[in-house]
Amino acid sequence: MTRKKFIGGALAAGVAPTIVPSSVFGKNAPSNRITVGGIGVGGIGKSQIPQIKEAGFEVVSLCDLDWEYSKKIFNKFPDARKYKDYRKMIADEGDKVDAYYCGCPDHWHTLVSLAVLKERKHLCCVKPLTRKVDECRMVVAAAKKAGTATQVTACTSNDEASVRLYEILDAGLLGEVRDVAAWSRRPVWPQGMAALPDWEDPIPEGFDWDMWCGPAKRVPFASKWGKRAPYEKMSKEAWCGDAVYHPFNFRGWFEYGAGALGDMGCHRANTIYRAMGLKWPKRVEASSSRVSDVAFPLTSIVTYDYETCKYGHPVRLTWYDGGLLPPTPKIAGSYALPSEGVIYYGTKGCLLFDAYKPLDCKLVFFDSELEAKAKSLPRTLPRRKGWIYGEWLQACKGGEAASCNFDFAQYITEFVQIGNLAVQTQKAVEFDPVTMKITNGNDAADKLLHSAYENGWNLEA
Ligand SMILES: NC(=O)c1ccc[n+]([C@@H]2O[C@H](COP(=O)([O-])OP(=O)(O)OC[C@H]3O[C@@H](n4cnc5c(N)ncnc54)[C@H](O)[C@@H]3O)[C@@H](O)[C@H]2O)c1
Repeated sequence: MTRKKFIGGALAAGVAPTIVPSSVFGKNAPSNRITVGGIGVGGIGKSQIPQIKEAGFEVVSLCDLDWEYSKKIFNKFPDARKYKDYRKMIADEGDKVDAYYCGCPDHWHTLVSLAVLKERKHLCCVKPLTRKVDECRMVVAAAKKAGTATQVTACTSNDEASVRLYEILDAGLLGEVRDVAAWSRRPVWPQGMAALPDWEDPIPEGFDWDMWCGPAKRVPFASKWGKRAPYEKMSKEAWCGDAVYHPFNFRGWFEYGAGALGDMGCHRANTIYRAMGLKWPKRVEASSSRVSDVAFPLTSIVTYDYETCKYGHPVRLTWYDGGLLPPTPKIAGSYALPSEGVIYYGTKGCLLFDAYKPLDCKLVFFDSELEAKAKSLPRTLPRRKGWIYGEWLQACKGGEAASCNFDFAQYITEFVQIGNLAVQTQKAVEFDPVTMKITNGNDAADKLLHSAYENGWNLEA
């Protein structure tokens, strides 16, 4: 029996595969070895592929359309088979790969995910899972059909700070929490552009710009901003690089990215949604700096109103980005809020979830009495081991589903997408998640729920 049939078959049948003792078949027994292929590995994949290996996967193949940009990660895995086109990779690798990682820009997540899931492979996709709501529904349905193990790389909601937060809220130490604020200092890439670049640069040799654009709009290639400023008074020090689109700076454009909210919102929502038991908001409103036809704004505030939460009352969740911060609670005095975080405002107290260091999130009690009460609170919830990729590995081996599996990831993906509809259209959005319609007459937002596949690509691809 091949490894693919052994692992995939057991999962699709809804049963955990029998664990073959390694003493019998050695460490390469089918139950122990999960091979992984990385697609889109030159950017964040450079860090995440080694983390996947560290978690216990075997990295056997890598694919990226820009081999120059991917040099570092390719060199780190000299024995991995290398590809430029993920379709060829999936076809050629066949049974040799059990699981895929997708680290491509946002506009590629859906097509890559559908291709992987069609082959009934396990899949870990970087956040946000998709760019549009219709894509999200398709990918979630495809994952259900595949029956394989999925995970999205949103910041874990199983770290000690998150689990302790759930215990504190459940114990009612903050009273009733009807207001939550989350923020990010991002973007650290250009946003707020009024128009597409008005020049064209030569495409570097060996770089497939058509493939990079893929199913999104194919625009003339522009390499770097250089001396040109995408808008006035832009401080370039704040940027992570000078690229117009590739690498990294695709994030600011509607066509290829999801702005600061799409970039960081999934990380924060992963814990907030579990803490408060949220599903879809009833209404979303946004206010922001200039929004053009092509790019996300430099700063925005997005207000989500939920009719109810797991504690049975309405909740307002407000998102701030681009350096804006929420009101500091009175009790916090002159406390300087971190650049990434969440505040839970309760009737009996406030709690800061400091996410400045994503691997070491912290709870900050502004009130020593509250802190003392929290300290004596018993630990009642289980602590899950394994972080993002360890969870995924357990799931690939037939264990518990990873916590940000695609079923759950749907909520936090649609959280950022629906928020972005309000930002993009500058109008309130009321979304019916069952009929998948905007119900308050915002026709522009309704249109944006759906993806326009271009350049010969379609969702059957
Ligand atoms: N913590 C996280 O989970 C986390 C952190 C950073 C980025 N991300 C996400 O990762 C994605 C990529 O971000 P980045 O900063 O790494 O971008 P990047 O531009 O630096 O890297 C993307 C890589 O994908 C490659 N690529 C593009 N299209 C491809 C295709 N069709 N086939 C194969 N390779 C392709 C590019 O050549 C590049 O090497 C984004 O969706 C972003 O939101 C997640």
